[in-house]
Amino acid sequence: MKSLIVGHGGREAALGSRMAQSSALYAFMGHNNPTLTDLANETGGKIAIGNVCDGKAITDFALVNEIDIVLVSSDDPLASGVVDNLIHAGVKVVGPTKAGAEIEWNKAFSRKVVSEISPQSNPSYSFVTGISELDTALSEIGADGYVVVKPLGLTGGKGVKVVGPHLKDITEARSYAASLLDESDNAGVIIEERIEYPEFTIQAMTDGKTVIFPPATYDYPYRFENDEGPGTGGMGSCSQKNGLFPFLAKDVYEKACEITYDAIQYLATHNRHFSGCMNAGFFATEAGPKVIEFNSRFGDPEAMNIMSLFDGDLIETLMSIDEKKLSDKSIRFFDKSSMVIYLVAPEYALGISSSPREFSIDLDSIKSSNVEVFFSSSERQSTGLYKTIGTSRAVAFVVAEDSLEEARNKLEKTIGFTFQGDLEWRKDIGLFFGGSAKPNP
Ligand code: GLY
Repeated sequence: MKSLIVGHGGREAALGSRMAQSSALYAFMGHNNPTLTDLANETGGKIAIGNVCDGKAITDFALVNEIDIVLVSSDDPLASGVVDNLIHAGVKVVGPTKAGAEIEWNKAFSRKVVSEISPQSNPSYSFVTGISELDTALSEIGADGYVVVKPLGLTGGKGVKVVGPHLKDITEARSYAASLLDESDNAGVIIEERIEYPEFTIQAMTDGKTVIFPPATYDYPYRFENDEGPGTGGMGSCSQKNGLFPFLAKDVYEKACEITYDAIQYLATHNRHFSGCMNAGFFATEAGPKVIEFNSRFGDPEAMNIMSLFDGDLIETLMSIDEKKLSDKSIRFFDKSSMVIYLVAPEYALGISSSPREFSIDLDSIKSSNVEVFFSSSERQSTGLYKTIGTSRAVAFVVAEDSLEEARNKLEKTIGFTFQGDLEWRKDIGLFFGGSAKPNP
């Protein structure tokens, strides 16, 4: 059996590690991710470095290597229609087509879906397509002095801005929204009410029909402790043994699952092919869940939580998704608390560029433990020595334990004795559950 993963982040490294348990792993990636390269070498697979949005190159690589199943779980390739290319060539693939992934890459479409399946779960919002509509939207939605401004398309967690943490007031919100409307590729902007409740995400796995709901996950999108600083793609994430959180009641989680299920069925009935993972983000409000957004793929870092809990054969699961035979008996999750801590370049998300940072990790010393290390934006220099690529998330440490406290202690200890370098990480992962307005990645 030969499998192919497209992408090069910590998420792909974690998904690839599970695929490599029962197949030869091939990887098509933008840079030489050390985790994926090692897995390909160990399992008799192969890597290719190229543009992960180039559907033709990826399809050619899959055909030449006679790949049995491909997984695409990264926003840009999905929005570029990589899955469409693969399907067209007759390659088995898990992931939505461009039309299915629109639920992520077009926030106006996503709001429309929610307004049809569960209107009460949308925040108050206005889809603004021109500057002449902006003042009315801001005065209606922002009557309390607060709004959220969202670009329509993909921004890697850094485009959503909230009055309070990012924008001083409605006047600054107006300037930001107007600048987005000025950008030629932005056909509009979303103005939403600010909601101040804790967030959670659900990584729903689906073949487009059957949907499996893993434990809820909690992402840390702010750059610094106590949710200070700018938005990021996610500094870490956790899940709790009972699948819920101190702030998340079972009925709110179940309602959120119902909304996610309905969104997937909506896409199916509108002939938008969707398979893989729907990463659905919600605010846990007293009046029930409010949808933040839908992502048409696993979250990064949340995929690493789910893979640390996944108890099964991921290749078998991917094949059953492709064959539309997913069953709730085919996926089980360990009853544990999981945690991911990302180590990032100090300049990450601060709008400052820097030259590559060198760091070392002694992987041998943790081989016998249950901690896993997944590289992201970094490459190997020599044994144990790595360097960052760009100013991004470099490497993730992941574990599943009996409690969040044990998981955090284990990760902190492991990072302490294996890692050397000047990367940074949030020290409050698993300790802090914010309830204030956040940038929605
Ligand atoms: N962690 C947020 C995302 O994957 O978009």
